[in-house]
Amino acid sequence: MSNPRSIKRIGLLTGGGDCPGLNAVIRAVSKTAMYRYDIEVVGILNGYEGLIRNQVELLDTSDVSGILTRGGTILGSNNRISPLQFPVESENGSIEYIDATDRCLQTIEAHRLDALIVIGGDGTMACTMPIVNAGVPCIGVPKTIDNDIIGTELTFGYTTAMTTATMSLDRLHTTADSHHRVMVCELMGRNAGWLTLGAGIASGSDVILIPEIPFSIERICDYLQERMQSPAGFSIIACAEGAHPEGGHQIISQVVEGSPDPLRLGGIGQLVAAAIEERTKFETRTTVLGHVQRGGPPVAMDRVLATRFGVSALELLMAGEINRMVVWRHGDIDHVDLGDVVTGQRLVPLDHPMLDAARAVRTCFGQDA
Ligand code: F6P
Repeated sequence: MSNPRSIKRIGLLTGGGDCPGLNAVIRAVSKTAMYRYDIEVVGILNGYEGLIRNQVELLDTSDVSGILTRGGTILGSNNRISPLQFPVESENGSIEYIDATDRCLQTIEAHRLDALIVIGGDGTMACTMPIVNAGVPCIGVPKTIDNDIIGTELTFGYTTAMTTATMSLDRLHTTADSHHRVMVCELMGRNAGWLTLGAGIASGSDVILIPEIPFSIERICDYLQERMQSPAGFSIIACAEGAHPEGGHQIISQVVEGSPDPLRLGGIGQLVAAAIEERTKFETRTTVLGHVQRGGPPVAMDRVLATRFGVSALELLMAGEINRMVVWRHGDIDHVDLGDVVTGQRLVPLDHPMLDAARAVRTCFGQDA
């Protein structure tokens, strides 16, 4: 097929925390570019860091073969470095944070990149805006296990992470049952409860704690008292890393200066478990699932979504629909303005049907219904 936009070379980068399906998008973008449009694909290494430091690699078809099922990203990724606040050492040895957009533009020019395909979350899309504003055609592809990107009802990686988390919660069920314990499992998701809500429902967790619904520890304990006396005699609590008590705040485990997402969350599971044990005397254990949720091969649905996103990203570019992000809406692929995506995070709405379904089966959210 001819190349209507005279695009000869594109750059491709994966930014932010990795997730299952990144390689499937890389493969789909690259194969569509190479086979359908005869376009060269330059892989930018380690997200925006590679664009700033001019670390790139021309991909060929063999680089993108056999990677559909592989977790992670063959290009490497990075959730510490942002071109908007890039650390450099000043003359007196102290670290200064500079705007490195010019360096990105130099790399783009040096490699004659006619456009950029950016696979990332809201942080990566925010880093892309200055490049868009400098006139480089960009297309975004939404990735994250958190499922929290504005404009799309689904990000690739989410379904796989939810499946992994569900399988882990299933395993906690059998040991909780044997020991008549309360098991608190802390899940990722940053400020959004999608991952915990999905895995919590899928695993039949008794208590689901998400950032959107601040909890009362008393309410949780009242619920557990009843539940522990029922024939089941054990309880599973799916607790999002961003969950917090009513009138309280999230637990920040680390601040990564200069990162597009500087606040790392973690530790709430342990606090919830301690508070439960102290109040109820039920034997309580905590599991922090951590990066297991981000690893491994994508499930079939993510492979399909990632492939469709990747192909659509290239097709959008070739149709001249630039500075857009491909999205999943109303059961199909669509696209939105990149600028609209970076205005915040997509949280669980309090009237979401998933919440209603969970409540109907008597799941406790640590609140009055
Ligand atoms: O955004 C993806 C995510 O896995 C979040 O769920 C989590 O809060 C964060 O990244 C963890 O980041 P890091 O890999 O830097 O620990």
